Amino acid sequence: MTKQKALLIIKPDGVQRGLIGKIIARFERVGLKIIGLKFEMASKEKVVAHYPETEAWFAKVGQRTLTNYEKKGLDARKVFKTNDAVAIGKIVKGWLITYFQESPVFMCVVEGYDCIEIVRKLSGNTIPVLAAPGTIRGDFSHDTIDLANEQNRPLRNIIHASDTPEDGEKEVALWFKPEELFNYQLAGERFMYII
Ligand code: PPS
Repeated sequence: MTKQKALLIIKPDGVQRGLIGKIIARFERVGLKIIGLKFEMASKEKVVAHYPETEAWFAKVGQRTLTNYEKKGLDARKVFKTNDAVAIGKIVKGWLITYFQESPVFMCVVEGYDCIEIVRKLSGNTIPVLAAPGTIRGDFSHDTIDLANEQNRPLRNIIHASDTPEDGEKEVALWFKPEELFNYQLAGERFMYII
C-alpha cells in the first residue's frame, strides 16, 4: 500500500461564503494528513493547465452536459448554440477560467492511504443537486448544470478534489513547490491508520 496525495481547491464560491474552516475540518476529521495549505490568486495559465487541454477532457465535460440536458428534456443548443460535446467542453473551460479568478482560491494538499477515494467521497457528486447529504457539495450547495449554463457560468460546487492518483500527483506539482509541502507526524497517526 502506498499513500496517495490529493489536491483540494476551495473555489471562489466556498472562499467568499466563508466555508474554508468548515470544509478543511472534514478532511482533518476523517484522519487525512494536511501537508500543504495556501491562498493563491490563480493565474489564467495555471487554470488552463489545471483542467486538461485535451479532446478527451472537453468531450467528457460536454457529454456530461448533454446527458444532463437530455434527462431533463432540455435542448443544449439554446445555451451553447451547438450539440457538439467537445465544443461544449471548451465553453465550460472558458467559464472555469473566469470563475477561478473571481477571488483567491484556497489550496490544500492532503495525504493518506486511499486518499483519492476519500476526498471524492467527502466532496460528493460534481453536480451539487445530485450530491448526497453529508457531503461537502450536498450540504453546502444545490446548484444544477442547467441553471449554471443558463447563467453562462460553471457549477458553483465549492470544491475541486483530484480525480485519480495520477491527477493528484500532477495537480499537486502544478500548484505547490516541493518546499511548500511538509512532512510531520500527527499525534493520532497510530489510531487513524496513516502511519
Ligand atoms: S470531475 O468531478 O472532476 O469529474 O468533473 P469534470 O467532469 O472533469 O468537470 C470539470 C469541471 O467543470 C465543471 N463543469 C461544469 N460547469 C458548468 N456547466 C457544465 N455543464 C459543467 N460540466 C463540468 C465541474 O464543476 C468540474 O469542476 P471540478 O473542479 O473538476 O469539480
